[in-house]
Amino acid sequence: MSGGAALPDGFETARLALRLIAEADAGPIFEGYARDAEVARFLVWRPHRSRADTDAYIARCLAKRPDEARTYVLAGREDGAVRGAFDLRRDDANRMGFGYVLARRWWGRGLMPEALAAVADWALAQPGVFRISALCDVENRASARVMEKAGLAREGLLRRRILCPNLADEPRDCFLYARVR
Ligand SMILES: CC(C)(COP(=O)(O)OP(=O)(O)OC[C@H]1O[C@@H](n2cnc3c(N)ncnc32)[C@H](O)[C@@H]1OP(=O)(O)O)[C@@H](O)C(=O)NCCC(=O)NCCS
Repeated sequence: MSGGAALPDGFETARLALRLIAEADAGPIFEGYARDAEVARFLVWRPHRSRADTDAYIARCLAKRPDEARTYVLAGREDGAVRGAFDLRRDDANRMGFGYVLARRWWGRGLMPEALAAVADWALAQPGVFRISALCDVENRASARVMEKAGLAREGLLRRRILCPNLADEPRDCFLYARVR
């Protein structure tokens, strides 16, 4: 999907700066969370085995068209240190989608609901955008809570919808969450 304006260069929240991912983020991302199997448990990618995996991931992020999809790192506003990442994309002219990950040492402080609420507020203020949505595995309670706290509502159960390679070699059931205007 393309044709809209470029997605923003960044977002700011009370505690976080979401800024565009860059090659120089490979070290902190690899060390901070991408090699952590517990972080990747419900994700569609396997834990990175080396810096080269993280370099390749960042190259894929940077290759996306800025009007279609962008990847931001979540950096602390105070220290600038990378805490996680956030993907935002246009699914079509009227709706956006997203994904997120946070290093384990930063879990449980409400950082991702803060980031998601800011992005969802922005998305739903864009002309023509009426919906922002994502899926999460039925057992990913933490992610479901993030979306609920950011004002998304659970719309349903999609069966056999996502392949989580770290959990099973067959697609698993997931919940669909969305916020609309
Ligand atoms: C999902 C994730 C981003 C949550 O971000 P967060 O900033 O920690 O979110 P919150 O602090 O609001 O906590 C959300 C829920 O996580 C769970 N949680 C909190 N601290 C936790 C911890 N230390 N360990 C495990 N789970 C924890 C709780 O269920 C919490 O819900 P509650 O506030 O109702 O108790 C983070 O757990 C993560 O990166 N997980 C791995 C990647 C992932 O699953 N991404 C989403 C794919 S759909």
